[in-house]
Amino acid sequence: MSYNIAVDGPAGAGKSTIARAVAKELNIIYVDTGAMYRGMGLYMLRLGIDPEDEQAVIAHCDEADITLRYEDGVQVVCLNGENVNAYIRTEEVGAVTSRISVLPPVRKRITALQHELAASADCIMDGRDIGTCVLPHADVKIYLTASSEVRAKRRYDELTAKGQDCDLAQIQADMEERDYRDMHREVSPLRQAQDAVLVDTSDMTPEQVIERILELCEKKG
Ligand code: DC
Repeated sequence: MSYNIAVDGPAGAGKSTIARAVAKELNIIYVDTGAMYRGMGLYMLRLGIDPEDEQAVIAHCDEADITLRYEDGVQVVCLNGENVNAYIRTEEVGAVTSRISVLPPVRKRITALQHELAASADCIMDGRDIGTCVLPHADVKIYLTASSEVRAKRRYDELTAKGQDCDLAQIQADMEERDYRDMHREVSPLRQAQDAVLVDTSDMTPEQVIERILELCEKKG
């Protein structure tokens, strides 16, 4: 049986930074499920499909073959064989992805791949529904969060460091809208699993969060 850690939480809580570091520390793989959904979002965006047009999204979702591979421990998302890591991190792809990921056929397709990965390797998987739906029997479950002000500021700092022009208030408003959609959708909404440990990172450094998660893994490992 493989060892699985589930990490869920809203956008900007620090899930990917933390999960990547914990994976390295424990020498297990990191599965970024948001990136898989983003691969599907990018596919719809490239086709020019309106993300609100459910029938069109459903009709085309089976054409997108999303796979993961690892290069020097770094996850690479492939969309129909093309490495799309460089294109999936934009706010535009994030907004489309949040809309199409409410649809059951999209989730079914991507969840199947997540099950395969978790069964075949020890991993830390992050997303919105990992502890509640994808890996309900995960060895360790964490719900990572932070205030929306802190999360927006982190995203703002990330984007400005890359030289992108952006507006803090707008980022916070977009993030709150996306969280609302992720938490209130009918299928697999974002919520804390009953047996997940809540870690509020608002006043913690990344090192402190990593330390806390490693402690939790030791206790349950
Ligand atoms: O974590 P992220 O920002 O890369 O995720 C992008 C979107 O994908 C997010 O708004 C909701 C969706 N998502 C999801 O529905 N389920 C997951 N397990 C991961 C992401």
